[in-house]
Parts: sequence; C-alpha cells; structure tokens
Amino acid sequence: MMKVEIREARAADAERVIEYTKTIGGETDNLTFGASGFPITVEQEADYLESVYSADKSVHLLAVIDGEIVGDGSLSGLPRRMSHRADLGITVRKSYWNKGIGSMLMQKLIEYAKDHGIEIINLEVRSDNAGAIHLYQKYGFQKIGTSPAYFKIDNSYHDFDIMYVDLR
Ligand SMILES: CC(C)(COP(=O)(O)OP(=O)(O)OC[C@H]1O[C@@H](n2cnc3c(N)ncnc32)[C@H](O)[C@@H]1OP(=O)(O)O)[C@@H](O)C(=O)NCCC(=O)NCCS
Repeated sequence: MMKVEIREARAADAERVIEYTKTIGGETDNLTFGASGFPITVEQEADYLESVYSADKSVHLLAVIDGEIVGDGSLSGLPRRMSHRADLGITVRKSYWNKGIGSMLMQKLIEYAKDHGIEIINLEVRSDNAGAIHLYQKYGFQKIGTSPAYFKIDNSYHDFDIMYVDLR
C-alpha cells in the first residue's frame, strides 16, 4: 500500500513544483498549460508559494509519495465582495490516476474551505473530462453552465463546464 502524504507547499518545494507542472502539462490536454509549464523562475515560484501559504483563504496542497510530488490541489481565494469564494484546481500524475489521490486532495481542500470561511467553490473543467467531472460530482459540485470554445488547441475548440459547490 503506497503511503501518500498531503501537505502544504512551501518555498523549498519551488523547483520540484516547477518540474512537476511541466510533467503534468505534457501528460494531458485538460490543463491551461502544456509541457513548458509556466514562464516562472524558481525564486518567483518560491515567493508565490509562500504568499499562498500565508494567505487567509488560499492553499496549495501537494500529494507526495517517497519525496516525489504526484499530485497537487489548490484553492485560490477571491478579493472583496467575492471573498466568500475560491477557485479550485487539481492535478495528479498520470501514472497515479484512479488510485484515490485526487479524492484525498479534494477531501482536504473542502476541509480547508470549511475551516477558513470559504462558502462557495468554483471551477471550470473540460466538458469531455469525464474522470474529473465524476470526481467533482462525488464532492457535491454541480454544473451551472457551459463556456463554449474555452480552449483552442491546434485549431480545435473545447467547451468547458462551469461547476460550483455551495458549502453554506
Ligand atoms: C482529474 C484527476 C485529478 C483525478 O485524480 P485521480 O487521482 O485519478 O482521482 P481518484 O482516483 O480519486 O478518482 C477518480 C474517480 O474518477 C473515476 N473515473 C476515472 N475515469 C473516469 C471516466 N472516464 N468516467 C467516469 N469516471 C471516471 C474513477 O473511477 C474514480 O471514481 P471513484 O472515486 O468513484 O472510484 C486526474 O485524472 C488528473 O490529474 N487529470 C489530468 C488533469 C485534470 O484533468 N485536472 C482537472 C482539471 S479541471
């Protein structure tokens, strides 16, 4: 049985988070980025991770097995009149899909939301991403609309489902 640790990302994880992001970007067309990840330096990533760590209503969780990042999940809190809401993102390395790691991350993210006064979580997911939609529905998310042609990849357009969960 694999031992999965779920913990908050810190500055010291910056380099590995950048590498992880490039890896998963190359494994799926469901994300906003591809194999090149984000144009960000290790220092910028470290600053970003610390700013999330110290924020009231944002969190970046890592799923780690034997020191290797195999998944991540985040809640990004919104400002002012939207401060009761957060956007959710989640990824797992392809070789670890369907082993319950996404569910572990979702559980922790929802726990975090409840503990930190986040009342509504929003997300967008490719309409043909049946596995992710199944996972979100399992945690109470419902579809509230479709955003047409949300992605354009090599001249083909992909719709996204807009989903939310109300934790009030
Ligand atoms: C979506 C993702 C995070 C799920 O992570 P995971 O670790 O595989 O999730 P889990 O193993 O906890 O759960 C997957 C569930 O989906 C189900 N599932 C998998 N493929 C499915 C499919 N094609 N149709 C319906 N259900 C499916 C599994 O049976 C499992 O269901 P269960 O929990 O009821 O047994 C992972 O697949 C991933 O990173 N995908 C690429 C990035 C991505 O799409 N992120 C979401 C962007 S919005």
